[in-house]
Amino acid sequence: MVAQPVGDQVAAPRLRARDVTLRYDQRVVSSGLSVDIPDREFTVIIGPNACGKSTLLRSLSRLLRPASGRVTLDGRPLADFRPKEFARQVGLLPQSSIAPDGITVVDLVSRGRFPYQKLIRQWTDVDEEAVRTAMAATNVAELATREVAELSGGQRQRVWAAMAIAQRTPVLLLDEPTTFLDLTHQIEMLDLFARLHRDGTTIVAVLHDLNQAARYASHLIVMKAGAVVASGQPAQVLTVDLVREVFELNCLVIDDPASGTPMVVPTDGRWR
Ligand SMILES: Nc1ncnc2c1ncn2[C@@H]1O[C@H](COP(=O)(O)OP(=O)(O)O)[C@@H](O)[C@H]1O
Ligand SMILES: [Mg+2]
Repeated sequence: MVAQPVGDQVAAPRLRARDVTLRYDQRVVSSGLSVDIPDREFTVIIGPNACGKSTLLRSLSRLLRPASGRVTLDGRPLADFRPKEFARQVGLLPQSSIAPDGITVVDLVSRGRFPYQKLIRQWTDVDEEAVRTAMAATNVAELATREVAELSGGQRQRVWAAMAIAQRTPVLLLDEPTTFLDLTHQIEMLDLFARLHRDGTTIVAVLHDLNQAARYASHLIVMKAGAVVASGQPAQVLTVDLVREVFELNCLVIDDPASGTPMVVPTDGRWR
C-alpha cells in the first residue's frame, strides 16, 4: 500500500518508525521513538557518540527488529518484506563491515546486485552497468582486482559505498560514510550522495561534522540519548542553544562564508 495524498493532507513518508523500543538484550537504546524519513530529501542525523544513531539506522534497514512499536515502509512492517524485495528498496552502508575472506573489490561491489538476481535470469547488462558506474563514481575502478582486505581504511570505505550505490535503491541509509576519508574524499563522497539526492534518491546519512551536515542536509535530525530532540532545516535547527544542549559544547554559529549555511565554531577548548 502506497500512501496517497488525501485532500490537503501530505502523503505519509515511505519509511517511518512509530513509537519504537530499540534494545540489545537488556540495554534499551530508544523507547517511544518516532521518526519520519521524508521522501526524496537528504536527511542528516547528528548526535553525540552512543546516542543511538546507528541503532536507529539498523532498525530502519531491517537489521534490528523493534522490541515494540512499528517500523514501516509504505505502511508495511519491515519484517513482512522478503529480504530481496526489501533490499531493492532500502540500501545500507553500515558503520563498519567485514568483507568475506579474500574477496576482490569488483566481487564485493557486485554483491550490491544480489537483490536483483533471479533463479533463471542471472547477471545482466543492467547489473554490469550498475557495478561499473558505482565503481567509477566512488573512484575505486582502478582497485577492481585488489583484495578488499589489503586496502587502506579510506579505500575500503569507498568500496563499501560503491556496493551500496550499485544496489540502486530509492532509499539509501549511510552510517558515517565519510569517517575514514581525507577531506577531499569526504567532499567527493558527499557530492556523490547530493547527486543521487538530486536524481530522486532519499538519502539518510549519519555525519559527525556539523558544518558538512548543515551544507548537505535538506533535513536535519538531531538525536540525544536515544531520542530525537530536534528536526527540520539546518538553518532553523542548528543553534548555539542546541549545540550546547546536545553536545555540551559552547560555540558560535556564524554564516558559512562559502555556502551561507550555519557554521559551528567551538569556543570551548584550549588551543593556546
Ligand atoms: N550490538 C550491541 N550490543 C549491545 N549494545 C550495543 C550494541 N550496539 C550498540 N550498543 C549500545 O547501544 C548504544 C547506542 O549505540 P549506537 O546506536 O551504535 O550509537 P551511535 O551510532 O549514536 O554512536 C550504545 O550505548 C552502545 O554501546
Ligand atoms: Mg554509530
